Amino acid sequence: MKRNVLVFGATGKTGCLICKELDSRNIPYSVFVRKESVNKLTSDSAKIIEGDVLNTQDVENSFNGAVFTDVIISLGSKKLRNTVIRSKGSNHIIEAMKNNQSEANIHVISALGVGDSCTQLKWYVKLFFNLLLKSVLDDHEKQEILVQNSPFLYHILRPVGLKNGPAKGNVHVQNEGFLPENQIERADVAKYLVESLSENKTGISTICNK
Ligand SMILES: NC(=O)c1ccc[n+]([C@@H]2O[C@H](COP(=O)([O-])OP(=O)(O)OC[C@H]3O[C@@H](n4cnc5c(N)ncnc54)[C@H](OP(=O)(O)O)[C@@H]3O)[C@@H](O)[C@H]2O)c1
Repeated sequence: MKRNVLVFGATGKTGCLICKELDSRNIPYSVFVRKESVNKLTSDSAKIIEGDVLNTQDVENSFNGAVFTDVIISLGSKKLRNTVIRSKGSNHIIEAMKNNQSEANIHVISALGVGDSCTQLKWYVKLFFNLLLKSVLDDHEKQEILVQNSPFLYHILRPVGLKNGPAKGNVHVQNEGFLPENQIERADVAKYLVESLSENKTGISTICNK
């Protein structure tokens, strides 16, 4: 199947690596990027769509006339409080997809601790998450619910803590029980996401390095 991918969050730490992975597989893609962030893009092979994901019209325009097979959402923010970018952004994307009769699959970078994966957290990690990351996890929770209730096929990735080193080349998927590692390289997340996309994988994958 010939792919055409749209990436949201392409200038982010994970998003850049997702683009690199798409490049290495010669998968055509577009990136939706804020005007002031275009210079952060690390690849020049993508079609650039400028816009703010919090602006409904910008998101709507990105689907106008273009047929995408896959939409990747790797949105995030450094804000730890009152953060809405993941849920609001995903809501705008889903509505724009519906309005444009898109049939694309959605691939989302969420996080361990969201939804039923909170049972996979040891008590002290749960405490830490509740103290520091509650707003981020609530935002991801809303994002996941929107994606799961949408008419689109989806693959939600719930990585453990993200690291910036080179890919280790191993990804462990485990949706129940405590995971063997509490970290994963962003490069491995990107590789796993694009591999899963090519294999039409759907559902939810909680992932860490082995
Ligand atoms: N850090 C961890 O250990 C960890 C663990 C598990 C899951 N996660 C989740 O993984 C995801 C990706 O994380 P990351 O560290 O790779 O993210 P990141 O580096 O913070 O990247 C966030 C991306 O979102 C884009 N963005 C933000 N606001 C936007 C807007 N209004 N319009 C358009 N684009 C916008 C940013 O664009 P700009 O360049 O314009 O800012 C950037 O490309 C996040 O959702 C995070 O919660 C993180």
